[in-house]
Amino acid sequence: MKVTITGAGYVGLVTGACLAERGHEVVCFDIDSEKIEQLQRGEPPIYEPGLKELIEKNIKAGRLHFTTNCKEAYRQRDVIVLAVGTPEKEDGSPNLSYLKKAVDDMACHITQNCVVVTKSTVPPGTNEKISYWIHSKKSPALNVEVVSCPEFLREGSAIYDTFHGDRIVIGAASKEAGDLIQEMYKDFHVPVVRTDIRSAEMIKYASNAFLAAKISFINEIAAICERVGADVEEVAAGMGLDKRIGPQFLKAGIGYGGSCFPKDTKALHHIAEKVSCRFEILEAVMNVNDSQSEVLMNKARTHMGSLRNKKAALLGLAFKPGTDDIRESQAIKLAKALIHEGANVHVYDPVAMENAEKELGNSVVYSGSMGEALLDAEAAFIATDWEEITEFPLSNYKLLMKKPIIFDGRNCLQMEKIQKNDLTYLPIGRRGCISPII
Ligand code: UDX
Repeated sequence: MKVTITGAGYVGLVTGACLAERGHEVVCFDIDSEKIEQLQRGEPPIYEPGLKELIEKNIKAGRLHFTTNCKEAYRQRDVIVLAVGTPEKEDGSPNLSYLKKAVDDMACHITQNCVVVTKSTVPPGTNEKISYWIHSKKSPALNVEVVSCPEFLREGSAIYDTFHGDRIVIGAASKEAGDLIQEMYKDFHVPVVRTDIRSAEMIKYASNAFLAAKISFINEIAAICERVGADVEEVAAGMGLDKRIGPQFLKAGIGYGGSCFPKDTKALHHIAEKVSCRFEILEAVMNVNDSQSEVLMNKARTHMGSLRNKKAALLGLAFKPGTDDIRESQAIKLAKALIHEGANVHVYDPVAMENAEKELGNSVVYSGSMGEALLDAEAAFIATDWEEITEFPLSNYKLLMKKPIIFDGRNCLQMEKIQKNDLTYLPIGRRGCISPII
């Protein structure tokens, strides 16, 4: 099929490259000319494992093109995929203005009947608005239908997720439009859920809110574990074996970040409010997450007293491993809290340093390696569980640091190895890290 992707961000690029890989003829359109020029050279502007190779391969095969030219992008297309960002407004609702602009520009350039697929995360009812926007701009002779197909890929494993997803949700008003999108995905061999448009829109928000709830739930369980002398890692493993619960998203730590969970939970809360539903569980989920990085800071205050003028190594800056994305990263929040306490913060991340520098400027020292960050430090804070960080020899902490105290915000080091190396280790909710109070 001839497919155009509108918006060459995370979702758009990965979707475009994967559709091209499955044999479709794909054009990725974006208004950012610098980004498009970079992509035309085969260089993705984001770090995502396997993406560069997939883009290079499909450019060479002649199936993947990049353009800033509307006329070229929308001429004779079977499917147009909307993957434009819907960032959060001050009140928590998504900002649809970029999407509206992209749809307006697209609609007047459509030259044949086609289906427009919305991958951007949008509140229920938005696809009907998109349909209205298109119909007020397109040529009246053309038949254009809008289908909702929310995206569930995770950063860091986006390509794997696209080819091995748990489901593809297709919300369509007509059977024909839904069938066309199912046909586009036929070589992905991922189970398809067919539904109406508003339910598809809700599936995305409800899924992300539920996953965020699992994380905040286990973080609260971790706090109780510490006080009763239980180990949250063992509790989560035991819970996860129950198929009704499942083992995923039960990893306690300094909380969730990224471009989706914080934004989508706020948006769903806003959606609920608009229809006079108080979403109390979601409020608690967000509140727990907002204060979760404080858990590590409180441990630091308790164990070290003041942090003023002490060197603190902050290991990991990305919101999770496998990405250079620092949006809503708990690590950045932690960096700011440490700076606020007067610590001399030395940061290290294998790929997110450049992005972090844009956010943290010269308020921290950027280290060339983990060792450099740890040298003479009085405390180490683990904020992202990169393999480089989890595999770093524990004996080096003792050799490099002034005082080997590790505050592990991702519970990613092994207790037995810690004990062998005689380190002071403060994870979240693990047995032995504080004395139980009952
Ligand atoms: C998420 C959804 O998983 C994905 O389906 C959706 O399309 C986009 O949002 P992503 O933001 O890429 O994906 O990351 P994810 O792997 O879900 O992790 C989100 C955050 O939760 C990270 O900060 C991660 O560290 C944290 N997390 C995740 C935990 O703290 N504990 C867990 O058990 C799992």
